[in-house]
Amino acid sequence: MRRFHSFYLLVFLIGLCLFLISCGEKTTPEEETDQMAKKNEMKEEPKMDIQKQTFGQMPDRQQVDLYVLTNGKGLSAKIMTYGATLVSLGVPDRNGDIADITLGCDSLEGYMAASPYFGSTVGRYANRIAKGKFTLEGVEYTLATNNGENHLHGGIKGFDKVLWQAEPFREEKMVGVKFVYFSKDGEEGYPGNLACTVTYMMTENDELKIIYEAETDKATPVNLTHHSYFNLAGQGEGNILSHELLLDADKYTPVDAGLIPTGEIRDVADSPMDFTTPHTIGERIDQVEGGYDHNFVLRSGGGALVLAARVYEPKTGRIMEIHTTEPGIQFYSGNFLDGTITGKAGKVYNQHYGFCLEPQHFPDSPNKPDFPSTILEPGAKYLSRTVFKFSIN
Ligand code: BGC
Repeated sequence: MRRFHSFYLLVFLIGLCLFLISCGEKTTPEEETDQMAKKNEMKEEPKMDIQKQTFGQMPDRQQVDLYVLTNGKGLSAKIMTYGATLVSLGVPDRNGDIADITLGCDSLEGYMAASPYFGSTVGRYANRIAKGKFTLEGVEYTLATNNGENHLHGGIKGFDKVLWQAEPFREEKMVGVKFVYFSKDGEEGYPGNLACTVTYMMTENDELKIIYEAETDKATPVNLTHHSYFNLAGQGEGNILSHELLLDADKYTPVDAGLIPTGEIRDVADSPMDFTTPHTIGERIDQVEGGYDHNFVLRSGGGALVLAARVYEPKTGRIMEIHTTEPGIQFYSGNFLDGTITGKAGKVYNQHYGFCLEPQHFPDSPNKPDFPSTILEPGAKYLSRTVFKFSIN
């Protein structure tokens, strides 16, 4: 009986030893390399990248390049040298599915044929100048008129229709492209040679930053902005009326029938212009004649880079925040889109299929002494910054 017990005790002890040995066993060098690779993969920095492609050719055969910026986390932007235009912006939704959230065209010819400033850099003066006239230092200037009797977005051949010189760059945690354009004295009627730089940067924090710089040799109005039509559900995916919008503006500038500000600065309170708390774009749009196409006066007053707008698309969870140093933001609800343009991937753009939020100075400022000045003097530096920041909820 005792011998029987000792036998089982021995078997138990041998089993225990084998178990302990197997627990303490070292991994093979191959297994170790494998485990390290896995750990490194988890730690690996997102891959920021920038690639250059050809987008098309101008009628005079100059090549139009496209720069593709990626942040390794799903955000990507394609920007071409024609108009320093944002051609597409890929953004992940709450399931990680990426959609292009800006309206536009598949080809350069599309942009040249009929683009209502899709993704463009707009200048020398974004928005309207009444009757294309203003007086500066006692001299009356006459600009090209291209919107009825008014001047709009820089005239017949604004900054959106010229070829910019591009220089890509990389910095720690960002990739970017610097676009340069020299606007000659008298171009579209403006005084002074203006050297302009627009720098797009993509960061690993899911931001697309744009910095505008300019210098002149004669006093001139300058008001540069970015003109993407956004649909956070994806370009061509229906209208934007259920997007929720917040604007940090408690005043706006009412306009006349030609969309020129009357000069009044009116409170948004108790009106369909009040987006100081989030409202869908469609909720009160019927109460606004023609739809939203107004300059909102930001509470910041301009200067500091602060939040101006936040837009949320409930189906996809995409959120876009706009931070700017500008004192105003033009909110345009795509009222003039009418289904006559077939855009990217064969999508037809009907009314309200995209919205624009254009950080800028107020329209017609050169004729409105009470509005913040848009006059750039020789020796001074124009500097404006806007950040589009993406997240999901
Ligand atoms: C203006 C609209 C104009 C649109 C396209 C917007 O910035 O506010 O009135 O129709 O650009 O030109």
